[in-house]
Amino acid sequence: MDIQTPRAFQSLLQASRYKGVWGGRGSGKSHFFAESVVERCIMQPSSRIVCVREVQKSLKDSVKRLIEDKIVALGVGGRFDVKATEIGTPGGGVIVFQGLQDHTAESVKSLEGFHVAWAEEAQSLSTRSMELLRPTIRAPGSELWFSWNPRSAADPVDELLRGITPPPDAIVRRVNYSDNPFFPPELEVEREYDSRTNPSRYGHIWMGDYEPVAIGAIWDRLMLHRNRRQGMPEMSRILVSVDPAVSNTPGSDEHGIVVVGIGSDGRGYVLADYSIRGSPMQWAGRAVAALDEFDADAIVIERNQGGDMCAQTLRTVRPRVRIVEVVATRGKHVRAEPIAALYSLDRISHVGTFQRLEDQMCQITAGGYEGDGSPDRVDAMVWGFTELFPAINRAKAKPRERERAPLSWMG
Ligand SMILES: Nc1ncnc2c1ncn2[C@@H]1O[C@H](COP(=O)(O)OP(=O)(O)OP(=O)(O)O)[C@@H](O)[C@H]1O
Ligand SMILES: [Mg+2]
Repeated sequence: MDIQTPRAFQSLLQASRYKGVWGGRGSGKSHFFAESVVERCIMQPSSRIVCVREVQKSLKDSVKRLIEDKIVALGVGGRFDVKATEIGTPGGGVIVFQGLQDHTAESVKSLEGFHVAWAEEAQSLSTRSMELLRPTIRAPGSELWFSWNPRSAADPVDELLRGITPPPDAIVRRVNYSDNPFFPPELEVEREYDSRTNPSRYGHIWMGDYEPVAIGAIWDRLMLHRNRRQGMPEMSRILVSVDPAVSNTPGSDEHGIVVVGIGSDGRGYVLADYSIRGSPMQWAGRAVAALDEFDADAIVIERNQGGDMCAQTLRTVRPRVRIVEVVATRGKHVRAEPIAALYSLDRISHVGTFQRLEDQMCQITAGGYEGDGSPDRVDAMVWGFTELFPAINRAKAKPRERERAPLSWMG
C-alpha cells in the first residue's frame, strides 16, 4: 500500500490523542482522514473506528462512500468487507458511521471500545455531542480526529482545539487548497470565480477564516447555528414579508422577500428567503408564489415604501391577496433590536441555512449596517417577526388556527 500524503498533513501521521485539521474548501481534509482510516485498519488489525457527525440522516451523509473508494484506490479491497451499514476491517475490526445527535448518554457507551473517532464537518458539533464523545473514546491509545471548515471561534471544536487551552497531546493544523497537490481543476475554476465575485466570503470559503461578522453586530453566527433546524415544525401562523426596493435599476437594492412563521411550539421560524432584484411584477409574483407554497396567512409589506403602490402591485398579481401593511415609525436598527433579542433568547430558528440573510444580519451593529448596499433581507425578516411578535409572547396557539384579529386587512 502506497499512500502519498501531502506535506501539510505529514505531522499528523504520528500518534496523538487529538488530531485536528481545519481550513477552506478542497484542501484535502476528508481525503487525508479517509486514507488514515484505511491505513490504520491495515497497520493495526482489529481496529474499531467510528466516523461521526453531528447529524446523520442517512449513510449518504457519511464518509462511508469516500472510505470505500479509498479502499479500492489503495488496492486493499480484498481485506475489507463492505456491508450495507458498516465496513468489516482486517482482524475482525469494524468501521461504523453515526450521528451524535442520535445518541444518548447511555447509547454512546456502545462506542467505548473504539480506537478512533473521526468527526467530519466538526464545526457542526454541539457542546453536548463533544461532551458525549470525548470521555467515551477511552481504549488504550485511542484517538479523536476532527476535520472542519471553521465558522466561528465560539464553536465547540474551535474552542477545544484552537482556544486558549487546547488539550495536551493535540496536533492541530491549518490546511488550504494550496496545500492540496490533488486540487482538481474544477475547484480551481470555482475558487477563481469566488475570488472575483464574492470577496467578502472568499476568506471563509477558501481560506478557512471564520465567517465575516461586524464587531458589535446585534446578531451572531453562533446563536444562528445553535438554533438551526432541519425541518419545519407544525406551524400556527406563516407570513410572507416583503421589503421592496424603491427603484429597479441594475445597481439597485434587492427586494427582500422572507417567509417567517410561528410554530405551535410558540417559537419563531425563518422558513425561506426568496429575495430578488427585479421589476415590481417580479417581486410581487414571487411573494404570491411563496404565499401559495407555504399556504401562508398574508403578505406583510411596508407602507412607506411607495405607499399604496406595493399593495396595488400585489393585487395585480392576485386580486384578493391578504395584505398586512406596516408603517415604519422607528429607524431600522431600532426595529431590529427586539427581534435580535428574541434570537438571543433562542426563540427563533432558521429552518435551513440562509447565507445571504445571515451575512446581512451579522453586519448590523447598533451604529448601522456595515455591509454593502442595504440589508433588505433583514428588513423583510424584521417586519415579519414584528408582526408575529405579539403572538410569540402569547400562550400556545393552536396549530394552523388562523388568528387574524391583530392584523389590518386590505384587499
Ligand atoms: N489523497 C488524495 N488523492 C486523490 N485526490 C485527492 C486527495 N486529496 C484530495 N484530493 C482531491 O482534492 C479534492 C478536495 O479534497 P477533500 O474533499 O479531501 O477536501 P476537503 O478539505 O475535505 O474539502 P471540503 O471542505 O470541500 O470538504 C477531492 O475532491 C479530490 O479531488
Ligand atoms: Mg471535506
